Amino acid sequence: MANIIMLMCFVILLATLEHTLAGAIDTTKPYSENPTVQKFQEYLQIDTSRPENIEQAVEFWRREAEALGLPFAVYSPGGRPVVVMTYEGANSSLPSIMLNSHMDVVEAVPEDWIYPPFSAYMDDEGKIYGRGAQDDKDISIEYIEAIRTLKENNITLQRTIHMTLMPDEETGGFDGMVPFARSEDFKRLNVGFALDEGLPTTDDTLIVTNVDKRPWQMEFTIRGVAGHGSSMQGMDTAAVKLRRLLDVIMEFREDQMKISDSLEKDDGSFTSVNVNIVQGGIATNIVPSEFRLVVDMRLAITAKASDMDEMISSWIMATGANTTVKFIRKVEESPATAVDDSNPYWVALQEAACEMNMTLSAILCPATSDMVQLRLLGIPALGFSPKPRTTNRVHGVNEYLSATTLMNGVDVYVRLLKKLGNLPL
Ligand SMILES: *[C@@H]1O[C@H](CO)[C@@H](O)[C@H](O)[C@H]1NC(C)=O
Ligand SMILES: *[C@@H]1O[C@H](CO)[C@@H](O)[C@H](O)[C@H]1NC(C)=O
Ligand SMILES: *[C@@H]1O[C@H](CO)[C@@H](O)[C@H](O)[C@H]1NC(C)=O
Ligand SMILES: *[C@@H]1O[C@H](CO)[C@@H](O)[C@H](O)[C@H]1NC(C)=O
Ligand SMILES: [Zn+2]
Repeated sequence: MANIIMLMCFVILLATLEHTLAGAIDTTKPYSENPTVQKFQEYLQIDTSRPENIEQAVEFWRREAEALGLPFAVYSPGGRPVVVMTYEGANSSLPSIMLNSHMDVVEAVPEDWIYPPFSAYMDDEGKIYGRGAQDDKDISIEYIEAIRTLKENNITLQRTIHMTLMPDEETGGFDGMVPFARSEDFKRLNVGFALDEGLPTTDDTLIVTNVDKRPWQMEFTIRGVAGHGSSMQGMDTAAVKLRRLLDVIMEFREDQMKISDSLEKDDGSFTSVNVNIVQGGIATNIVPSEFRLVVDMRLAITAKASDMDEMISSWIMATGANTTVKFIRKVEESPATAVDDSNPYWVALQEAACEMNMTLSAILCPATSDMVQLRLLGIPALGFSPKPRTTNRVHGVNEYLSATTLMNGVDVYVRLLKKLGNLPL
């Protein structure tokens, strides 16, 4: 079996070595003069942790589309801009390939960083620092540079490629992917397969995520008997009930930790649960009538939604009367995309990795991405970012990407698009 794969890989390699594409890494120039690196820096310098700056990112992409002569559209299904740039294929009856990423980034505290988080400073080793360098402005630039390379080399693909950019992935996609995936504008894109952000790896294996955990984020309101701070109001105060609620949640958490700590650790095998906000109280000398507790759960793959609902009801029962729960986010279903020979897109991805002497490993995404929305529509969608030999700094301080990784990433997508874009029906 291994021999067959090696042989296949070798044949493909010979076929692709025939021509080297323009856009490959030019080693004669320093990275600071490389247009791909400069574009990445320019994009990183837009502080899209602030929603009001998303419009600047939209303008950045409008300029890119104009420079390449790509059709450009902005939709606002939830009141915020969703950008679609299109590289038209030769056969419009074939389903398209979607390359998704998001324009927004999480916040950064400048004092914690060695270089300002929106400076896009490149050091002597070619590390480019900036919020979004790994999550996920890198792939956006790699996508567009791969399309540029194809275009400059007069390579027309059979399938249309849509590069999509979302305004609010980090806050749940409620004004972006969630309404967009349900819109007629999205339907018209006729998406057959989608790629979205993935995770970096420290070695040469590239990770592909094919299923996301289901987020259940909820707010409990616990009401009890109020009174003077010096009085003893019995066992019906909000604080007593809060303690009961915390006890049952922590008991469940300990059980899940045992599963997560066990030898055959797999992120899908346990439900993560964390109490992330506790609020309440008005004064030192008043027994408050109310506490608020916010809990973030990400369900195990095998967890049944009905069982989880029952468990949450039992938690409420345990607190005594007058506790209510409100869901902030509740994804009941999160289908998986096949990662075997039944999925031609996965096979194409593997072939491209094989050509680059890289191995792919399919895993579950421990968090939740915009891809859930696409998979719910029956569209195969995989999370993938070619970031090998990269320390994970996603959402962390001093987030950076090496210029070499960025340039290699362009090459990966060029190879990948040539395969995905020419897949027959
Ligand atoms: C692409 O096509 C244009 C117009 O036909 C031509 O001028 C150019 O040399 C071609 N580029 C490559 C890399 O073949
Ligand atoms: C629940 O709230 C109602 C209305 O405020 C109150 O009468 C009742 O005593 C409360 N029960 C408990 C157990 O706190
Ligand atoms: C992959 O490895 C083979 C054999 O070691 C080598 O000939 C080839 O150049 C490598 N390909 C790439 C893209 O690095
Ligand atoms: C376009 O793709 C469809 C579906 O695979 C195929 O039937 C048709 O022949 C193709 N058209 C052209 C012009 O290649
Ligand atoms: Zn991201």
